[in-house]
Amino acid sequence: MKLYLAPLQGMTTACYRNAYARIFGGIDAYYSPFIATADNERISRALLKDLLPEHNEDRVKIVPQLLSNSGEAFRRFAGTIYEMGHTEINWNIGCPFPMVTKKKKGAGILSHPHMIQSFLDTVCENLPYSLTVKMRLGMNSGEEGLRVMEILNQYPLGGVIIHARTGVQMYSGSVDLEAFEALSAACRHQVTYNGDIFTSGGFTSISERLPAVNNFMLGRGALRDPFLPWAIRGKTFSPADKVHMLREFHGEILQYYKTSLSGEKHICDKMKEFWSYISVHTDRDGKLMKKIKKCHSLISYLEIVNQVLDSPDCWNDTPLRSI
Ligand SMILES: Cc1cc2nc3c(=O)[nH]c(=O)nc-3n(C[C@H](O)[C@H](O)[C@H](O)COP(=O)(O)O)c2cc1C
Repeated sequence: MKLYLAPLQGMTTACYRNAYARIFGGIDAYYSPFIATADNERISRALLKDLLPEHNEDRVKIVPQLLSNSGEAFRRFAGTIYEMGHTEINWNIGCPFPMVTKKKKGAGILSHPHMIQSFLDTVCENLPYSLTVKMRLGMNSGEEGLRVMEILNQYPLGGVIIHARTGVQMYSGSVDLEAFEALSAACRHQVTYNGDIFTSGGFTSISERLPAVNNFMLGRGALRDPFLPWAIRGKTFSPADKVHMLREFHGEILQYYKTSLSGEKHICDKMKEFWSYISVHTDRDGKLMKKIKKCHSLISYLEIVNQVLDSPDCWNDTPLRSI
């Protein structure tokens, strides 16, 4: 069985992936948040900064992801990324945000199978790297996904990751395991399941329902509970070890933002995002998040966070609330 960390824009950047792999681990590959391709000939180095070898520790297998509906632009970007040493590149055809979908990118391209066909005709000629795809069930319905799969089946892909929701669902409602089963059965590539795995119990029921699937991608669940990948693999940590690991993780992420962002308010805002996930397991009544949201200075922020992390029973294995 393989477990992958899903890309989450603004969260799973190099510093986060490095710290996660070093402190928690249990993940076979980390997918990076998407980089949107641009039409200009010259690719700015700043755009690809998150993928540079100097920012990514050797132990961390990363898979860069591109968002594009232009085969030519994708080839150029992917070629440059491949030259940096990355051997798998992922194509995002699952992003559900209207800003993206209305341009027929992300999940928006799922309603236009002819565009997918001509994109892959261009991209798949003499592929030096493994091309994988991350998709949804369809933009509007599972039928769309099935039409897309007929096309994906014609190309030499390294695998297909399916988030078991449609694009119009965004992140609401529940995953549709029946539609996932139909789409994965129609896929001749290796399939990875993605969507709503939040606990090891939840993983067990999904994996028992999908016996043919060996690869799973964890997103929000693994950010809320960084012990989840190991819990799924059957390894547990003592409560004291968990708090120690959380403290170390928090310290590294905070240190990174202190050096890369200017202004304490800006840093506090970024750390709020971090806590919006972790607090699902530490904040029973929502008070912690309320306090963190009000912080504008690092002194007040650290006072609140230390109160949490100084308490040996701050971590709860079961999620305390849904977000
Ligand atoms: C804030 C946020 C940012 C995301 N950014 C990306 C992204 O850059 N690329 C991508 O393929 N999916 C992105 N996703 C989707 C996740 O990778 C994943 O498919 C989705 O959250 C479902 O998995 P989960 O239920 O395990 O979280 C994002 C999701 C969220 C909530």
